[in-house]
Amino acid sequence: MLVARAHLSFADCQPRPRRHGRCRGQGRLAKIILGDRPAQTERFLGKPGLGRISGPNATNPRDLTMPQLRCQIEQLEPPGTEGDLRSLGELLLDAVDSGAAVSFLSTLSRAAAEGWWRRTLAGSDARAIFLIARDDQGIAGSVQLHPAWAPNQPHRAEVAKLLVHRRARRAGLGAELMHAVERSARGAGFGLLTLDAKGGGAADRLYRRLGWTCAGTVPGFAFDPDGTTLHDAVIFYKPLSMPITASGV
Ligand SMILES: CC(C)(COP(=O)(O)OP(=O)(O)OC[C@H]1O[C@@H](n2cnc3c(N)ncnc32)[C@H](O)[C@@H]1OP(=O)(O)O)[C@@H](O)C(=O)NCCC(=O)NCCS
Repeated sequence: MLVARAHLSFADCQPRPRRHGRCRGQGRLAKIILGDRPAQTERFLGKPGLGRISGPNATNPRDLTMPQLRCQIEQLEPPGTEGDLRSLGELLLDAVDSGAAVSFLSTLSRAAAEGWWRRTLAGSDARAIFLIARDDQGIAGSVQLHPAWAPNQPHRAEVAKLLVHRRARRAGLGAELMHAVERSARGAGFGLLTLDAKGGGAADRLYRRLGWTCAGTVPGFAFDPDGTTLHDAVIFYKPLSMPITASGV
């Protein structure tokens, strides 16, 4: 059953003033359409200084050149098609190859990556939610929501395996997947989300930026994919009792 469907497209846009009056240097406009509702929000995504071309006109926003990223975020119904399982396996392998701390070591094979997705999708709780972002090359990103198993935590779910393929990173897709999974969680009646991330990494920064609260750090929690370097884990939570807008908290 499709519970959330979003079309995400980015187009180069002029910098917009931030709330406190400063201008962001570069960004793209994201139009999000949920279900059959019309465009409900336009959100400026960007980071000062990134994506600028060099040269004499570099400060002119019309000269900014960034490739367009067009993705569609949708809910994947378990067990998933063979094509999607292949694409998800590639997504996981890409994350591990990039050095990401996502449970696996660099010895992960393609077959093992696909097998992990197959088992995860097939064995998931009926209330679990798998969101994927498709681009013209396949699945460019994903995120999962798993309800807490404990009978005394029916309101809690764990966000897991936020993955964005390297070809689509730093364009706001990770943030959009998080917004989408929060909306899905709220729609499914969850009131509290938890997750953990490698301390100091891109995901750690992203979650803080999206309003997640850091509950603490566990030193030496897991190894990097190299199997030798230990890293810390940061535990985050986010209550969903406060309404969030499509553009985040
Ligand atoms: C963590 C991860 C999901 C982030 O995905 P992403 O799509 O790159 O995320 P975003 O684009 O929303 O944000 C990432 C950065 O891009 C920047 N960015 C966002 N939109 C941008 C734009 N239009 N132009 C330039 N930069 C932009 C953000 O400000 C952010 O910068 P920061 O890292 O300095 O804070 C991705 O790096 C990934 O898949 N990593 C490997 C797997 C992993 O570690 N997962 C987390 C498990 S807990």
